[in-house]
Amino acid sequence: MMEYTDRHFRFLMRLFSSNIRLYTEMISVDALIYGDTKSLLNYNLSENPLALQLGGSDPEKLTQCSIIAESYGYNEINLNIGCPSVRVKSGNFGACLMDQPRLVAKCVKEIKSKVKIPVTVKCRIGIDNQDPEIELKKFIKHITEAGVDAIIIHARKAFLSGISPKKNREVPPLIYDLVYEIKELFSSTPIVINGGITSYSDIKGHLNKVDGVMLGRAIIQDPMLLANVDEEIFGVSNHDFDIRVLLEQYLDYAYLQHSSGVSIPNLIRPIINFFYNTPSAKVWRKNLTSVNYKEVNPGYILESYETYSEALQSHIKKTAA
Ligand SMILES: Cc1cc2nc3c(=O)[nH]c(=O)nc-3n(C[C@H](O)[C@H](O)[C@H](O)COP(=O)(O)O)c2cc1C
Repeated sequence: MMEYTDRHFRFLMRLFSSNIRLYTEMISVDALIYGDTKSLLNYNLSENPLALQLGGSDPEKLTQCSIIAESYGYNEINLNIGCPSVRVKSGNFGACLMDQPRLVAKCVKEIKSKVKIPVTVKCRIGIDNQDPEIELKKFIKHITEAGVDAIIIHARKAFLSGISPKKNREVPPLIYDLVYEIKELFSSTPIVINGGITSYSDIKGHLNKVDGVMLGRAIIQDPMLLANVDEEIFGVSNHDFDIRVLLEQYLDYAYLQHSSGVSIPNLIRPIINFFYNTPSAKVWRKNLTSVNYKEVNPGYILESYETYSEALQSHIKKTAA
């Protein structure tokens, strides 16, 4: 997710579970080819399994980027066929490619002929006036024939003009049944469902029908939702889970990153929404956001945790009294 799932955020999410799959923000092929490739692709190996999401529609450029990504150790190439932004549309990639299934299939096929890692597609159920019942099936048929390894379907349409990307994640209705139907029709292709999924009971319900679930905003809003993912979804006990230990692990990482030039705000950003659901969430947020970043080092993360814990304890005492 652009502006959120940077390498620091992903490092942190990996500390919650070794079983989940992480995705980068979308990176356009031109940015990768003509920009600072190394800094765009740099990540911590502990983030694996990690997919690189690419934005593009030129099979040659996509293939070139995929070869580079494979050499960096990424575990999957994911093509973004779901972003409706004007900038992305003007570059002829993202959701507008939903009505160019042959081109998407060509991209998948060419990339697959040059890399060994899985090549997947993230798409919508349709765009604009398309009839998803017809067009989505046609689209999926083309890309499965091209050998796509898995498809992540954001279960709502995208409108390419008239509404903002934000509204495009809220206004078009979610049609989960269509995604389930796709799974039935294309049973040998792994299908992952996305859109509006916020709880473990939702996730478990979907997993009865499809192969995987992708979470977006729920994790941004409340990253600690992942504290239970191993136990709830992967059947692995996490009785030893301790948020303080996790923060200490992140702190070690943050010190290293800071010493190589990463700014404090960039290191603090991924933890700001921790404790979202607790009575002292405000204390945590305020501590992290109202400090003069020039005057602190990463150790401030743990200091903030102590302040938060004290505030929480005193809240508990007050409400128990
Ligand atoms: C701020 C923001 C940035 C996003 N960036 C991307 C992106 O880079 N690539 C992508 O495939 N989807 C992106 N999305 C869409 C999400 O991945 C997801 O498909 C969408 O939010 C619906 O899922 P959710 O309801 O679980 O959030 C973004 C969403 C948000 C809110």
